Amino acid sequence: MSGFDSTWLALREPADRAARAPAMVARLSSHLATVNTPRVLDIGCGTGSTWRSLANALPDSVCWTLLDHDSTLLDEAKKRIGERENVQFYQHDLTDIDGLPLKDVAIVTASALFDLCSETFCAALSARLAAQSCGLYAALNYNGVMTWTLPLPLDAQVLANFNQHQRTDKGFGAALGPDATDCLHHHLVAHGFELSCASSPWRMDAGMKDLQIAFLTGLRLPLVEIGNLSPAQIDQWISERISLIDAPDSLCEVGHTDLIALPAIALQA
Ligand SMILES: C[S@@+](CC[C@H](N)C(=O)[O-])C[C@H]1O[C@@H](n2cnc3c(N)ncnc32)[C@H](O)[C@@H]1O
Repeated sequence: MSGFDSTWLALREPADRAARAPAMVARLSSHLATVNTPRVLDIGCGTGSTWRSLANALPDSVCWTLLDHDSTLLDEAKKRIGERENVQFYQHDLTDIDGLPLKDVAIVTASALFDLCSETFCAALSARLAAQSCGLYAALNYNGVMTWTLPLPLDAQVLANFNQHQRTDKGFGAALGPDATDCLHHHLVAHGFELSCASSPWRMDAGMKDLQIAFLTGLRLPLVEIGNLSPAQIDQWISERISLIDAPDSLCEVGHTDLIALPAIALQA
């Protein structure tokens, strides 16, 4: 078990799909179209959201390996995707970077993963990708921004505390949280990759009420763990935020960044 609940992943999937930067998906697709028998490795696949969002946008010839360390999520991915000739599943702990199945992989994909990872992990993964001339598409990296059109007095403190919690260890050492894209950028450029980034925020209105409620109630534990606000202040803020979801012009934005990095050798091809 990784602690990522499949109900939460299902709830966020439509918002993630709507948020993905189309230019990054187009770049991924056009790159894969230049590769003979392209293989994609999706790391931290969860229940297969990246595959469901991208498979139809990429060339039919793409073969996928979906990798996660959580057997419950992988089983759910297998159930939802079903038996397909071009999709396989692989249980593996990403902290074993040398053991990643990168043979013949043209590009590694990941969604909502790198903010959980550490700088050490990103440095080592960048080096391994460079050694294999393998690209990286990393979507939906939280960038530290949360805004509401209808402000409340505690918003800034909630954001600061949440971002502080984002930097705590999620299994890879101190997490990058909002710094994930900058860190990947730094290490991938140092290895000669060609990079593009684009913004991919969630824009949640009342039509995404269930996601907003799950998101807001999910903030409670991190905020309590940081401890700068009392549980009563946190609960009050969450309940006021929930009551504002249906108000006119109410919109919550949560910032993310998508990144694609292609190895120099692939760009010359
Ligand atoms: C936020 S979820 C994103 C899941 C999926 N990519 C999506 O967009 O719905 C992060 C995923 O990373 C996986 N994960 C976290 N740490 C991992 C590790 N050390 N090795 C492999 N997978 C890991 C979790 O099991 C989870 O599926």
